[in-house]
Amino acid sequence: MVVDPARVPGHVAIIMDGNGRWANQRGLKRNAGHEAGEQALFSTVEGADALGVRDLTVYAFSTENWKRPVEEVRFLLGFNESLLRRRADELHDRNVRVRFIGRRDRRVPARLVRLIEQTEGLTRDNDGLTLRIAFNYGAQAELVDAAQRLVDDARAGRLEQVDESAVAARLYDPEMPAVDLLVRTSGEQRISNYLLWQAAYAEMVFVDTLWPDFNGDELARCIELYQQRHRRFGTAMDTPMDRREPPPGDGDATT
Ligand code: IPE
Ligand code: IPE
Ligand code: MG
Repeated sequence: MVVDPARVPGHVAIIMDGNGRWANQRGLKRNAGHEAGEQALFSTVEGADALGVRDLTVYAFSTENWKRPVEEVRFLLGFNESLLRRRADELHDRNVRVRFIGRRDRRVPARLVRLIEQTEGLTRDNDGLTLRIAFNYGAQAELVDAAQRLVDDARAGRLEQVDESAVAARLYDPEMPAVDLLVRTSGEQRISNYLLWQAAYAEMVFVDTLWPDFNGDELARCIELYQQRHRRFGTAMDTPMDRREPPPGDGDATT
């Protein structure tokens, strides 16, 4: 199998899961797994860019992750800050446009919010890959926030009607296109409150690889699987003659 360059998914979203298990398998603390995830992320960014993916959205910290032990939460906040500090210039040099989706509430340290805004500003005019980092992100919170904005806009006379485009325009990043391919690592097969609106018609690929072992080649394999799918978007579609298979049990029949 090889990736068909004409049918690369425009928007790939990834649930980067399995850092803790990766570390535990090596007798290490969970935080070592988060650290090891950094090179997986950069290899994936590079791979996505080389394959022609336009938008890559990664789940870095969920609204539910605040339930983790305080030391791990503290580590993740600091680690994400240090990653941005160390690697924003590199992303900029790669012509990557960085954006954040999530709630910028009081639990997110002001220093991190400032750095997020600086990185978004630095890379704003880049026209390569758009890397969205979902941080303090929860899809239910995003829809609640969008609903609140609908109410506010209706009260202020800025809303004509409530329809799909009115909701989409009030999500964290209204420019974000629909997700074509959603990948989750680590063998778990669930959404965990990620992109419920945007992934309405995404193809899902679940891989057993733990996130720190993921890379650009693994992404290419996920895209190959994506390219074997037939997306229907609710339409009716007959199987082409050359792809039809006999019904199960056919051929077993005895005379
Ligand atoms: C994903 O890895 C990273 C975050 C959720 C921040 P986990 O930390 O969830 O790793 P596992 O699932 O416990 O192995
Ligand atoms: C989802 O992973 C969140 C991120 C990858 C940031 P979790 O590990 O938090 O999800 P659950 O708890 O297994 O569903
Ligand atoms: Mg996990």
